[in-house]
Amino acid sequence: MAKTGLIIALDTQDPLEAEKWALATDNVGHMIKLGMEFTYACGLDAVRTLARGRRLFLDLKLHDIPNTVSAAIKSLESVRPAMLTIHTLGGYEMIQAARKAIDESFPPAVKPLLLGVTVLTSMDEQGLNEIGIRNSPMEEVVCLGKMAIQAGVDGLVCSPVEIARLRQELGKEPKLVVPGIRMKNAETHDQKRVMSPAEAHRAGADWVVVGRPITRAADPAEAAKAIVREMQDHS
Ligand code: C5P
Repeated sequence: MAKTGLIIALDTQDPLEAEKWALATDNVGHMIKLGMEFTYACGLDAVRTLARGRRLFLDLKLHDIPNTVSAAIKSLESVRPAMLTIHTLGGYEMIQAARKAIDESFPPAVKPLLLGVTVLTSMDEQGLNEIGIRNSPMEEVVCLGKMAIQAGVDGLVCSPVEIARLRQELGKEPKLVVPGIRMKNAETHDQKRVMSPAEAHRAGADWVVVGRPITRAADPAEAAKAIVREMQDHS
């Protein structure tokens, strides 16, 4: 079974705290993830500093008209992320524009993977209903996922619960990046569609994204190691 990588979500507004978590887990995690919280609070220079010598998943979940998303991606070239995210709900044309922006503005050797966020892992059926979507989370993820792959994403961000179905529908090629990871019987926080690291690995995740179970642990390095160990034990 292919290896599943661990991405550590450094969700904080404090660059020193982010650096502390990154240093503690440098030899365990395979990539760091910085999102809106860190980027808006600390700025892109702080993102560049933290990403130096590390692989960066820049999770800004871009969602706007095609022209704006395209321009935003072009302006991220100097940050050199290994992966970046857009919302698939932005639609086919927005995704195509994002693909084109990456292909035109990043040198081939440092081209980031373009990932489409499908349905946030904090949403359940009721949450979708409230925004007028009658599909179940699974149906909606499959619908958005198929459309996004056709429009040009390299992979998808989905909940662990949808991995098996997406593999069935889309094959092995698309990268599947999976948040909503919790150890058995642990607190789920605001995540609704969760699985354990071993379950996500077995289902076929390329990467799992883990934040609070590592960063809020008494010993983040140990917590990260336990997750990697659990995935290795189930290979
Ligand atoms: O702390 P926790 O493990 O829940 O963190 C999960 C991370 O993955 C957060 O940074 C969150 O923004 C991100 N994420 C998510 N669900 C998605 C996409 C990204 O939880 N669909």
